[in-house]
Amino acid sequence: MKPTVVREKEELRRFCNEARAQGKLVGFVPTMGALHEGHLSLMREAKRAGADFVVVSIFVNPMQFGANEDLDRYPRTFEADLEACEREGVSLVFAPTNESMYGPNFESHVEVESLTLPLEGVHRPGHFRGVTTIVAKLFNLLGPCLAVFGKKDLQQALIIERMVADLDMPVEIILAPTAREADGLALSSRNRYLSAEERERGLSISRGLRAAYDAFHQGERDVARLSALVREAIEPHADSIDYAAVVHKASLTADGDNADDLVGIVAARFGNTRLIDNCIFAEDRRP
Ligand code: PAF
Repeated sequence: MKPTVVREKEELRRFCNEARAQGKLVGFVPTMGALHEGHLSLMREAKRAGADFVVVSIFVNPMQFGANEDLDRYPRTFEADLEACEREGVSLVFAPTNESMYGPNFESHVEVESLTLPLEGVHRPGHFRGVTTIVAKLFNLLGPCLAVFGKKDLQQALIIERMVADLDMPVEIILAPTAREADGLALSSRNRYLSAEERERGLSISRGLRAAYDAFHQGERDVARLSALVREAIEPHADSIDYAAVVHKASLTADGDNADDLVGIVAARFGNTRLIDNCIFAEDRRP
């Protein structure tokens, strides 16, 4: 069955209230559209966790893009997205306009502090403030029991978990594994911009994470040595690297007490396309 498409906030609230009144469990997958297999796996995860009224939002949120970023160029594939949602048995797609989400007098934000500062925070200042603000607004509109985020955007996922815990938001956050191509490339809406040659070079990211993953599983715990393995694999192939490091998951920095909570994490450019990827060595599958 085709999902109901809703553009207005009041209508969204009404549908979610009705679903709850019918005893349904509302599960939420927030997206910016250009859906790929990674997003579809989040929808399946919502169902697996018990949601029988799955809502997908499709909204390219201007607040999380910097002035020089790819807001205008971000892929928009609404009709294909709707078909994908239908195939996955999504109940409702919420696709609001910018104007309905951000009225003319909008001036309130949700901001998580230290976790937003390193990594993406250095290179995309203000990005996470835009993400937490829109996600908090969407949670308020839907009132979901559970929401699913991809580990592919690990810093974002950890920040959302922090926000929900700190602000006592009544929603269970589920983190779903990163979906990869058979050769290791993490799925991303931006992969469609890679030429064949750039894609080939982009594989150096998963190679670097794999090298560090293997070293970790052979007992290496030195953050500098593990970081060097990631960076050395990518450096010859990327056009630029924003970061390629191993950090502690708790702080997303090189500082931490738990030698086992290490994450390899990367943002690098191939041509005009910025790819991000990561691997939680103790938890995730070999990239
Ligand atoms: O991960 C994304 O696609 C976006 O950051 C999100 C969570 C939908 C908020 O706009």
